[in-house]
Amino acid sequence: MFTTLSPSPAVLPGRLDLFEAIEDLKKELNAVILAHYYQNPDIQDVADYIGDSLGLSRQAAETNADVIVFAGVHFMAETAKILNPTKQVLLPDLEAGCSLADSCPPDAFAAFKAQYPGHLVISYINCTAQIKAMSDIICTSSNAVKIVQQIPADQPIIFAPDQNLGRYVMEQTGRDLVLWPGSCMVHETFSEKKLVQLQMEYPDAEIIAHPECESAVLRHAHYIGSTTALLNYAQASPKQQFIVVTEPGIIHQMEKDAPGKRFIPAPPMASCACNECPHMRLNTLEKLYLAMKNRQPEITLPEDLRQAALTPMQRMLAMSV
Ligand code: 13P
Ligand code: SF4
Repeated sequence: MFTTLSPSPAVLPGRLDLFEAIEDLKKELNAVILAHYYQNPDIQDVADYIGDSLGLSRQAAETNADVIVFAGVHFMAETAKILNPTKQVLLPDLEAGCSLADSCPPDAFAAFKAQYPGHLVISYINCTAQIKAMSDIICTSSNAVKIVQQIPADQPIIFAPDQNLGRYVMEQTGRDLVLWPGSCMVHETFSEKKLVQLQMEYPDAEIIAHPECESAVLRHAHYIGSTTALLNYAQASPKQQFIVVTEPGIIHQMEKDAPGKRFIPAPPMASCACNECPHMRLNTLEKLYLAMKNRQPEITLPEDLRQAALTPMQRMLAMSV
């Protein structure tokens, strides 16, 4: 495939086959490209592995590559570094953050935690290394229910930072959790009213939704799951049409894995593209190429923080086999 670039002669040749150049750099650096489903389609197509947060963490923990190029957001690349201190971890755009991770500042969370002595802290992986270090166990959207179910019934739990996922886990487990009031700007943008209207337009479509959505939206879903779970469900379902209530980047893989089926992105409240994650979309194929060529931006972490964040990550991996 031949890619024409917008002029940027100081850093890139005017015309370059980026796919070929990235493949060459992969061999030269012994690099692996890990990409989340919310990345632009061209990035997904050049990746060695595409997955949800749990799958990406497992890949990061198991890879033999010397360099991990993380096409995702900062907390994901940071997680790869926590699991793999000897490897170089590159993130195409260091500004690719996460509104959910940002909604839980370490100082405020430490004060919150101090109000609930004796509570076990389970944190969703969408948080900074500092929050991970203050947690007992990490979870992702694909194992949160399973992890909470493994905790003795009389053990009180703080769940952070996503209150929507927390509420979903409470419903599924019947447990009472103390919730940190954080949320994702993308998943909170879906409109219940517009979703119901869309369902009327496509009465045969199944609504499939990510648990980061608000409960008013989730109650209309036929199936709720992590990005990988949504993909697997859509592939296996006999239905031909799906209303997808998560970041629409995942539709690229859905269309590849289930050709012929129709995937309709759920509408945001406003007439904007705000169902697309602005952080995830900061990464581009050009930036990915430049990160590999220049071997930066690189994720680094103080060793004491890395080790403190590693223990709850290892507990998660052990509890989700
Ligand atoms: P997944 O665990 O489904 O990949 O979700 C990650 C995420 O950032 C959702 O907004
Ligand atoms: Fe964070 Fe939401 Fe973007 Fe996921 S979709 S990376 S939770 S801002």
